[in-house]
Amino acid sequence: MDRTAHVTDRPAQRAIAYDPGAEAQSPHFRAERVLAGNWTGTSTVPSRGLYPHQWSWDSGFIAIGLRHVSPLRAQIELETLLAAQWGDGRIPHIVFNASVPLDAYFPSPDFWRSSTAGRAAGAPRTVQTSGIVQPPVHALAAWLVHCADPGLSRARGFLAGVYPRLAAWHRYLLHRRDLGGAGLASVVHPWEQGMDNSPCWDAPLARITPAPARSFRRADLDHGAPEDRPTDLDYGRYVRLATDYRERGYADGVSDFAVEDPAFNALLIASEHALARIARELGATGTARHARAERLTGVLIERLWDRAAGMFFCRDLRNGELIPERSVSGLIPLLLPTLPRNITAALVRTLDGPHFGARLVPSYDLLGEAFDPHRYWRGPAWFNTNWLVERGLRVRGDTERADVLRDAMLDTADTSGFAEYVDPHTGEACGATGFSWTAALTLDLLQAKGANGAKGGDRG
Ligand code: SER
Repeated sequence: MDRTAHVTDRPAQRAIAYDPGAEAQSPHFRAERVLAGNWTGTSTVPSRGLYPHQWSWDSGFIAIGLRHVSPLRAQIELETLLAAQWGDGRIPHIVFNASVPLDAYFPSPDFWRSSTAGRAAGAPRTVQTSGIVQPPVHALAAWLVHCADPGLSRARGFLAGVYPRLAAWHRYLLHRRDLGGAGLASVVHPWEQGMDNSPCWDAPLARITPAPARSFRRADLDHGAPEDRPTDLDYGRYVRLATDYRERGYADGVSDFAVEDPAFNALLIASEHALARIARELGATGTARHARAERLTGVLIERLWDRAAGMFFCRDLRNGELIPERSVSGLIPLLLPTLPRNITAALVRTLDGPHFGARLVPSYDLLGEAFDPHRYWRGPAWFNTNWLVERGLRVRGDTERADVLRDAMLDTADTSGFAEYVDPHTGEACGATGFSWTAALTLDLLQAKGANGAKGGDRG
């Protein structure tokens, strides 16, 4: 079968709904079918109903799985996203599809007004985007996509095309977003860190006056159960922060919400290591980038490691203090190759302990007062964060733990209908089903399992 045929021969926006009748087929088939149904011709929507545009970190994770089905589509996924990069280097968290009605998603392009409000920051003129960013998984994704088919990648000049854009993206984060002055990147909105309503944000968000409920209409509740989604109060605060940022022309500086987050920075560091490998493939040495990534790992420890908790915490730049909430974000630095052994050992103990020890790694502390097994990022298990933890365990050579987690993910992804997130104890589906990164990361884990058998192994 010519898998690349999907790229051009399928009319944009024709959906293949997730079909439980296909259950007689393999999980690989079902996962591939989800991605085919969510492909628009140039990128993949996270979910047809809830998220009908292109999302930045979703596309990174999607490309990581898609590379096993169609390396060409995986390359195009990332190229489409990068084509919407702003002049200042930021990669917007949403790239809007102009053929989707405005009321299908909120906040829509007429809220962000990127091409006018973002003019000074170099927003593109021809495509509409949001003005905030999402975690920088892209260079890691680009490297893994290249590794899936180096011949095709070289023939298309894939890495040569994406490298300058990825380098500009990292420059933006390391300079304009170094709001704490120590070298780490900060997020200025909970949507930027990606775990929108994590209890980590409860204290910093409490300072924000919410936008009046009547000033906007949530579209997410048309597609998701209210008890699985953030509350109206959270939404009012998200809208207020995004409005204020827009009114400042998306100019960066310490604002009402400014946080250094461990997962965001761990992904930046992992991507900096990947960018070093890309530079090497393109003929440079990459040494300076590896050295910078190592240096940043040291800063991450200095700024965000909490020895007593045995994990990383977020730092609130408004008061300079660590936020003492346990989120999966604080375990994701396990990914980093130069983390000292005492820290990785402590992270693994925390992962196994009472705060996170469930079938799948929860998004938030099982013992935390705010824990809720179903509400978005306040407890449920997500597949991208579990994939990152699984990868971290494997990087450390902890094959046994990695295999157990991988098998639990594969089983739950399939039986939940490739759910957006699940109850970490029972695997019950929450949010949307037929969710792209769940399907994509399933394909990645299946591929690794098939290639390495029970031993597991690295994935590029
Ligand atoms: N995650 C946000 C939403 O729920 C936006 O990135 O719409």
